[in-house]
Amino acid sequence: MNTPTSPRIIVAIDGFSSSGKSTMARRLASAVGYRYIDSGAMYRAVTLYALEHDLCGPGGEGLDADGLAAALPGITIDFAPQPDGSQHTLLDGRDVESEIRLLRVSEAVSPVAALPAVRRRLTAMQQELGRGRGIVMDGRDIGTTVFPDAELKIYLDASAETRARRRFTELMAKGAGEVSYEEVLANVVHRDEIDRTRAESPLRRADDAIGLDNSSMTLEEQDRWLLERFDHTIQSLRR
Ligand code: DC
Repeated sequence: MNTPTSPRIIVAIDGFSSSGKSTMARRLASAVGYRYIDSGAMYRAVTLYALEHDLCGPGGEGLDADGLAAALPGITIDFAPQPDGSQHTLLDGRDVESEIRLLRVSEAVSPVAALPAVRRRLTAMQQELGRGRGIVMDGRDIGTTVFPDAELKIYLDASAETRARRRFTELMAKGAGEVSYEEVLANVVHRDEIDRTRAESPLRRADDAIGLDNSSMTLEEQDRWLLERFDHTIQSLRR
């Protein structure tokens, strides 16, 4: 059980795109009264900024790395809590939660997230957000680079097809327009490749992370699994 006197820890959840990290992270945060931070939303917000300021074209083509690096210190990213318990991403004070989920952002985000200057800036912001601990953060490099000292690290996996089906259903539910399952699958496979092979902070399972393939798990089974690990971590810190 998580009580007010429990030690407050950092939970790092990493894995491929659409592996269900954010759902898992959000539900754990709400169950234990921690803050949830979606680090992918921060990379998406910077990508939206680049697209809107002509620092990159569709698909991340012609990315102006120097121009974006110069703009970074002036960009602010915040999270605004919503009445329903969710939170919206703010880029320079503007609510961009819907826009950052569009395929045009997904298609340009990988090259932006591979830029060392972007990673340095966002890593510093993420570390600041976790200073008081008591957070659940999901991403690609949270357990390896952002919080190598996180008390609980999860590495989530699921097949590319399962993940593409999830994202496709999500996009349809949001009425995100004309997009086929095949296009979503191609984007997932392409981003997997970039996430895994980029020079700076590639997606990699931390040596001390617990692996989970959730392809055939229900949300409830996943919640129970994670809560058990969380409780176990808290207990072991009390000893
Ligand atoms: O989790 P997501 O699909 O919303 O993430 C968007 C992109 O940001 C993804 O293509 C990889 C990148 N990303 C990253 O490089 N490091 C993180 N910690 C989180 C996301």
